[in-house]
Amino acid sequence: MQTSYTIAMKYKNLRLPFLALFLTFISSAVLAQNTFKPKKDVLATIKKNFADADIQYKYMAKQFTDGRFPKTYHPDKDQFETSNSGWWCSGFYAGSLLKLYEATKDTALLTQANHNLKGLEKEQFNKTTHDLGFMMYCSFGNANRIEPKPAYKEIIINSAKSLSTRFNPNVGCILSWNSKPDDFLVIIDNMMNLELLFNATKLTGDSSFYKIAVAHANTTIKNHYRPDFSSYHVINYDPKTGAVKEKKTAQGFANESAWARGQSWGLYGFTVTYRETKDKKYLNQAKGIAHFLLSNPNLPADKIPYWDYNANNIPNALRDASAAAIMASALLELCRYVDKKDGQEYFNVGQTIIRNLSSPKYKADLNTNGGFILKHSVGHFPAGTEIDVPLTYADYYFIEAMQRYQEFAQ
Ligand code: GLY
Repeated sequence: MQTSYTIAMKYKNLRLPFLALFLTFISSAVLAQNTFKPKKDVLATIKKNFADADIQYKYMAKQFTDGRFPKTYHPDKDQFETSNSGWWCSGFYAGSLLKLYEATKDTALLTQANHNLKGLEKEQFNKTTHDLGFMMYCSFGNANRIEPKPAYKEIIINSAKSLSTRFNPNVGCILSWNSKPDDFLVIIDNMMNLELLFNATKLTGDSSFYKIAVAHANTTIKNHYRPDFSSYHVINYDPKTGAVKEKKTAQGFANESAWARGQSWGLYGFTVTYRETKDKKYLNQAKGIAHFLLSNPNLPADKIPYWDYNANNIPNALRDASAAAIMASALLELCRYVDKKDGQEYFNVGQTIIRNLSSPKYKADLNTNGGFILKHSVGHFPAGTEIDVPLTYADYYFIEAMQRYQEFAQ
């Protein structure tokens, strides 16, 4: 009879590669099992949130006229504000309706989404903005996932083509904001537009979109991030040489501060980039950002960030529910890709954020708040606009975070 010793000796030359294979198998099995146990009360809260959101979004539909897009609501003036289709947030309303339709199966939401999408179609050819990922992927990306159609596919591909025209190979980035010819401004938010490009490569087999996304992510790691994994908001490059001319803020408290939503955009963007490339560099970047945020002494116990992690009046600074919702959604994906200990921490924080955004402090009463689900986001503090108001993207990423949480129960 062969003992394990004799078997081991017989195959000793094979031992190392075999061991490596075995460990790879075990670690991928561990990662694949990286699911966490959702709490019954949070699942019940989410179910109620979706039922309430169904009522809210039908109420919201009555607040504006056809061809316009919800932007925000000003509680002090009881005033609903809309935008045209070119505003960077124009895709979130349809995106939220589509996700709520998935959650509730209420076809009235789907009908309203499809109606609204019609007014957005023309933006597929818009080459004057980098926000096409937000505008066209949060809308038509979800539409194509839920009800795949050749027309949606074409819109996504055309949008990716339009976005790609803003890529500058000297810089290795997609241009964010148009400005003077000698400036090339890139903001951290731009990481959120890469998912559109990854999707376009999947739809077409054309790797050029993927390559642009990867180049943009690499340049962003190099120049946007500080050693502690906090991010600048704006980098100004020389468009001819790619040299960094300035590192600064536009929407944050100070050039050297950590603007809360920008940190959440980066966390989300690098989580997506890891999902789409499986390159550990992006996973490490996302983990570094998560560590910066979750160990930050200025992150409150309820995990709803102040609008800037370095605002000068903490603890009296305003909170930003949108930064919390984006962070929760990102963490509830990232927790699947890391070891169990980090994953549990990310899952727990995502859960805490869902709990707290569901409280009356943040969640609006029915038929109030212009129909938005959440209150208390901060759009552009230094410009004095959209301060302590509901915002379309806070709702969108809150809905997504809740969907991602529910997936752990399946
Ligand atoms: N520019 C996008 C944002 O305000 O987060």
